[in-house]
Amino acid sequence: MEQKFIRNFSIIAHIDHGKSTLADRLIEYTGALDKRLMKEQVLDKMDIERERGITIKAQTVRLYYDADDGNRYQLNLIDTPGHVDFTYEVSRSLAACEGALLVVDASQGVEAQTIANVYLALDNDLELIPVLNKIDLPGADPEKVKKEIEDVIGIDASEAILASAKEGIGTKEILEAVVRKIPPPSGSIDEPLKAMVFDSWYDSYQGVVTLIRVIDGKVKKGDKIIFMSSGKEYEVTRVGVFTPLAKDVDELSAGEVGFIIAGIKELKDVSIGDTITHPDNPTKQPFPGFKKVKPVVFCGIYPVDTKDYDDLRDALEKLSLNDSSITFEPENSAALGFGFRCGFLGLLHMEIVQERLEREFDLNLISTAPTVVYRVKKRNGDVLEIDNPADLPPVGDIEAIEEPYILATIIVPSEYLGGVLQLLQEKRGIQKNFNYISEQRVILEYEIPLSEVVIDFYDRLKSRTKGYASFDYEFSGYKASDLVKLDILINKEPVDALSIIVHRDHAYYKGRDLVDKLKELIPRQMFDVAIQAAIGNKIIARSTVKAYRKNVTAKCYGGDITRKKKLLERQKEGKKRMKQIGKVDVPQEAFLAVLKLG
Ligand code: GTP
Repeated sequence: MEQKFIRNFSIIAHIDHGKSTLADRLIEYTGALDKRLMKEQVLDKMDIERERGITIKAQTVRLYYDADDGNRYQLNLIDTPGHVDFTYEVSRSLAACEGALLVVDASQGVEAQTIANVYLALDNDLELIPVLNKIDLPGADPEKVKKEIEDVIGIDASEAILASAKEGIGTKEILEAVVRKIPPPSGSIDEPLKAMVFDSWYDSYQGVVTLIRVIDGKVKKGDKIIFMSSGKEYEVTRVGVFTPLAKDVDELSAGEVGFIIAGIKELKDVSIGDTITHPDNPTKQPFPGFKKVKPVVFCGIYPVDTKDYDDLRDALEKLSLNDSSITFEPENSAALGFGFRCGFLGLLHMEIVQERLEREFDLNLISTAPTVVYRVKKRNGDVLEIDNPADLPPVGDIEAIEEPYILATIIVPSEYLGGVLQLLQEKRGIQKNFNYISEQRVILEYEIPLSEVVIDFYDRLKSRTKGYASFDYEFSGYKASDLVKLDILINKEPVDALSIIVHRDHAYYKGRDLVDKLKELIPRQMFDVAIQAAIGNKIIARSTVKAYRKNVTAKCYGGDITRKKKLLERQKEGKKRMKQIGKVDVPQEAFLAVLKLG
């Protein structure tokens, strides 16, 4: 189609403000799906997938809209991941667009994720169309929210569209605004192929499905293509678009969006943000902004039962088929045995993976506390990147340690402000901005060490604000901090999996706290268990779990054998979730005790 009739756009919104509902409404209005199919799709997407033999993962769809100006437009609605850990993927999806609908819940107002997404959209020079959703709700206050958008985001909201995705109000106005306000793409069809990858997933029948935005040139079935960052070449076997059902097309040309399938077996061979071109007539410059995503949060994952090691490896391999951002490498801990050091894009990503491993693969696991990647400058000039406290070089060799910081945006009702400011201070936050959005709400910008955020920040923020605070972040870079390694010794033996890296000013109370927590968590044994916290050779806190006074079964009445058996059974059960450290049974909670430090 002629470029002047193409519009590429996304919907950006805070979670629950109505992005998916609005997308469904747009699809329905433009008639891409009739009502019956729509229902089926909502009820059982799987059926449609089976029928077409291709997984529909993203809600990236091509719609045709007959506008009031008498022309028919091709609208490509591009989905963005709705999850703070996937900022880079969001930025690439937005880079595939010329504009975005900025959806704000008219009863809630601007939230942290709204702002974070707006920044990403503005970085990509997108035209933003404000949409105030949920105007059907009695609590909706469009005028107030318009003012918030103007004050906080700094864009004109006077023409914001009032909508209810639920009731279908404003749908046509939104489509008209997309056509009128969002510029058409501007690439050249005569230039060599330049297409940017903005999403991909693994389909068990088709292999890797890759979503692309063609910037220049065109791509069709049978073409040889090359991924510019990896240099890997493939032959295109299928080209198509989602309507939202997968539909083959002859070609995708400059300005268009769609999928290609090219016999790619592994998801890790396709990097988001990479540029595809023709090897025999390549584009001179790849599309800008590509970067290789690197995990930012690491933890050790160990099977409770060493027999499960191979199963754990198989499970990690299976998961990474569908999520190439997970990394894992075999690791050996003196305390926990054989396991894997796993890397994730963020805390939520880590929690999702851990949960899937336990649920879908039925594994009983012990995870160590999450850590960030520290940059250690050694006195001999070497610079190391360290994602495991156990790998920190001896104190004498270290010149400086740098840690990653984030820039956090937090929006909080003013009644909870005191508690939030205190939390930010405890977390070593540095205030960058403080503004009232309205009389009732404040927006804060803080630089915070990522290490403080990965440990119990979000839960605490939520509990101090009864769930009313919203939070989003981006990386802001590395900074030197006065950090030390805190070791834990159980009966004089250092337990590598319990070591943490902490700020020197917090080391004493964290050491004390950790030792107290461990004392509560480690059950009594047949002998005294000494728990100590140390920095280098210096013990900074200690505590003892006293031995049983009597045999456990002694309190059973002499003859009651069933009762005695039950007690022993129960003890055995309890043992399953324990890890033996030296002669001491340590429960898995102990390895996460550090998450609960005040
Ligand atoms: P995530 O998919 O979780 O990111 O949320 P989302 O932003 O896509 O929001 P979603 O469309 O799932 O809507 C969130 C909730 O708001 C759902 O319960 C919807 O039914 C409801 N909702 C969406 N639009 C409207 C609306 O216009 N009015 C009302 N009253 N509710 C709406």
